[in-house]
Parts: sequence; structure tokens; C-alpha cells
Amino acid sequence: MINRPRIFSLDDTQQSVLNEHGFHGQDILSVNQFTPASLDYIFDVAEEMRAMVGRKGGADLLQGRVLSCLFYEPSTRTSASFIAAMERLGGSVIPITQGVQFSSVSKGETLHDTIRTLEQYSDVIVLRHPEKGAAAIAAAAADIPVINAGDGAGEHPTQALLDLFTIREELGRLDGLHIAMVGDLRYGRTVHSLTQLLTGYDVQLSFVSPEILRLPLDYMNQVRDAGKTVRETYSVADVIASADVLYVTRVQKERFTDLAQYEEVKDFYRITPELMDRAKPNAIVMHPLPRVNEIDVRVDTDPRAAYFRQVKNGMYIRMALLAAVLGKA
Ligand code: NCD
Repeated sequence: MINRPRIFSLDDTQQSVLNEHGFHGQDILSVNQFTPASLDYIFDVAEEMRAMVGRKGGADLLQGRVLSCLFYEPSTRTSASFIAAMERLGGSVIPITQGVQFSSVSKGETLHDTIRTLEQYSDVIVLRHPEKGAAAIAAAAADIPVINAGDGAGEHPTQALLDLFTIREELGRLDGLHIAMVGDLRYGRTVHSLTQLLTGYDVQLSFVSPEILRLPLDYMNQVRDAGKTVRETYSVADVIASADVLYVTRVQKERFTDLAQYEEVKDFYRITPELMDRAKPNAIVMHPLPRVNEIDVRVDTDPRAAYFRQVKNGMYIRMALLAAVLGKA
């Protein structure tokens, strides 16, 4: 059981910053909604959530509030961390996650009607959906905030926030870093969101992928327009010695129309202890997870493997985001 004493609350200054950044009542659909200042603010609140959880496990900041968690695609971390975040803040959850097949969706109900229904019961909706743009459609249907937890091969903004937060926590800064994205840059929505966020910082970016999984042109153009130094390569060997962050991703099997093509590229990369011998002593390895074969399990005991610490940060970031969109205060 989570202990929820009634002491955690935002002071007046924090409350006014929160209002000023305008998250209250807002949807979270894309990373484009965030400025470096609003990110700093969310990260500061996430730090406080971490400290508060360490001290007493939970608080009653969102007591009486209800979150609907609607997942039309599989999820472990994103759904569990939103649920944990809501519950640690004293709120409760309607979980329609692994059970979408048992809901009226399986009777042919439209996304619009499902969303209109859930908003009658809840204060905020978290949605994961296989189609790009679905979160925006849901947001247009609902009067309560909708948070995009992944829309097909589009975006995954809350993951990008926790990724950026993790880099800052692990390396103490964002500016001046060389960040290498490895794997499925074409379909990987976490890469799409994180890449856009990073354009706001003084970073060097490398994109490492096989030809058919290159970063889509619109994202590449955004990076170039922001004046970033960009390198594209097929080979991790080209970046391993200079990268501060290796952001490794799973090849997104579910997005391929031709499975033979998936088979060709699925094992293109594998981060091994031998490869890590060539990495900087203070570099970190990240992964949004789940992993398949792209990181050897022997890397897990390397202190530079940050992916499970990254998972935990997801809960603090989602606590901060839920508090922000619910005006909580
Ligand atoms: C990612 C996703 O769903 O896009 N997972 C996650 O949310 N942590 C990455 C993936 O599925 O490969």
C-alpha cells in the first residue's frame, strides 16, 4: 500500500509558474508544445516528485481525480507508469489497456464515441493508438485533457520528456553533448519526439540506421533548419568513441508491411560489452524499451547502462505532467 500523508503541495510561486506555462487543461500531443523554459519547469517538478516519493511514497495532490488509460496497442512501461503516477498522487485510474478487446471497441465503437464516453467519468485521458494523428482526433472530441502516449509511427511526447530528463540527470547537462540515435529511426516514434526536442539544445546528433530505417525527411529537415551538426551513418563503430549518449531502439516489427524486410534488418545492431569497451567512460546507453536483441543482456551490469533508471524517471515525469494538466494543484 502506498502511504499518502497530506503534506505535499505546490507553494504559491510554483503554482503561478505552472499557470504561466499554461499546462492546466491542456492536451499533450506533441513535443512542439514545449519550450526549454517549460521543460525546465516540468523537470523541476519531476525532481520534487522523486524526492517526495523517496520520503513518503505518495501524496494526495490528485485525490478525487480520475485518469482513463486507453491503450489500443501493447504497453508495459507507459501504461504502468501513468497508473503508478496517478495512484502515487492519490488519484485513481480506469485502465482500458490490455483489455481493449473486451471493451466496446471490439463491437465497432468509434474512437470519437469511446473518448466522449470516457470523458464523462474522468478528468484526463491517456491514449495510445496505432494511427498517427489519433491523439489529435481524440483531443478534438474531448473537453478534458488528452495525453498522447504514442500515435502509430508519429510521436511519443511523454517518452521524449523522460528521455531528456534522464540525459540531464545522468550527465548533468544537455548542451555540448553528442547524442547518437541507433536503430529504427523511420518508425520509432520515441526517436521522432526526442529528435525534435533536442533541436532546442546545443547538441551534435548522429543518426545510425540501415538505409530503409533512416530518419524521415521532415524530421531531418527540422534538425537541419535548427542549424544542428548532423551525421548519418550505417555503422555504430563510426560514433561509439565520441558519443555521450547512445539511444538504442527496437526495430518496430508491427509497422512493417513486408515482414521479409523486417527480417533483413531486425538484427542489424547489437550493443555488446566488447563494443562498450570502445565507448567513453562516462557515456550512457539508453533505450525506451522493450528491447529484443539490440542490447546484449551482459551490458546491463555496465554502470553506463541507463535504461532501467530511465524507466523510473518515466514515473516522475508523468507525475509532473498529470499534476500540470490537472492544474495542481
Ligand atoms: C516505445 C513505444 O511504444 O514507442 N516503448 C515505450 O513506450 N517505452 C518503444 C518501442 O515500442 O519500441
